[in-house]
Amino acid sequence: MINEVINKVLSAKKYENIHPSTVKRTAERILEEDEKISDDEAVKKIKKELYTIHAHYYNGLDYKKALNSFRKNPDNIKNYEHWLRKYDNNRLKSVKNDCYGKIFRITGKPRVILDLACGLNPLTLQWMNLDKDAEYYCYDIEKNMINFLNEYFRIIKMKKCSAFFQDVVSRIPEMKADVAFIFKASTCFEWQKAGNTMKVLNGLKTKYAVISLMMRGEYNLDGCRNYFRKLLGEKYDDSYEVVSEKEYFRILKK
Ligand SMILES: C[S@@+](CC[C@H](N)C(=O)[O-])C[C@H]1O[C@@H](n2cnc3c(N)ncnc32)[C@H](O)[C@@H]1O
Repeated sequence: MINEVINKVLSAKKYENIHPSTVKRTAERILEEDEKISDDEAVKKIKKELYTIHAHYYNGLDYKKALNSFRKNPDNIKNYEHWLRKYDNNRLKSVKNDCYGKIFRITGKPRVILDLACGLNPLTLQWMNLDKDAEYYCYDIEKNMINFLNEYFRIIKMKKCSAFFQDVVSRIPEMKADVAFIFKASTCFEWQKAGNTMKVLNGLKTKYAVISLMMRGEYNLDGCRNYFRKLLGEKYDDSYEVVSEKEYFRILKK
């Protein structure tokens, strides 16, 4: 039964590029929660969850068009700004407001970064002001996005940057690094199962982890601090925060 359910989800056009281990993990949980659920109902529930944790954030950025424009003019920062604005205008404002400078003043300038559940955040690489030989490894669950990011790294000649098609909850990155980014993804991890963020954090071999949350609605400054107090428990430390435009960054020394 579980294999049929997984195959049905992965054969849908919208989800064919999602990592099979994400689908499998979600299917296992949903079938365990309700032993009497029909295959069709399970498929529906899994798709809904995949929409919430992934598809919901993407409004059809045209990877081919973006890559063509990068190839034509690889050094034009305005072009990256254009595509970043389409993806996440608030993130663009944050990076132009030097959120990375503020974060790296706390963590030190990193030589190796892991960007977990990266989405299209690697498009902000030009604002990180890393050394040309810095290493930046990013991870997400959509194959087309990962292919796009690897081609983008090639175009901007960041030789030590790679994107990995990997579910980081099922398989926590083992690479040693200075900093791990978990931007706007802890809510997705917790949605999948409460406690996932701490599981990932505990498994990482990095000196720092930077976790962010969008500031909106109940998540004003106090709301964000409360969220992290609950999420991090005794690992919460008052001294490490950066507030930038509409995003709140919590920095955790590991
Ligand atoms: C709200 S977006 C944030 C993207 C990016 N970090 C940013 O700040 O722009 C959440 C991302 O988490 C990814 N994601 C969710 N669960 C994941 C998992 N278990 N492993 C890897 N990526 C995951 C989704 O595919 C999506 O790209």
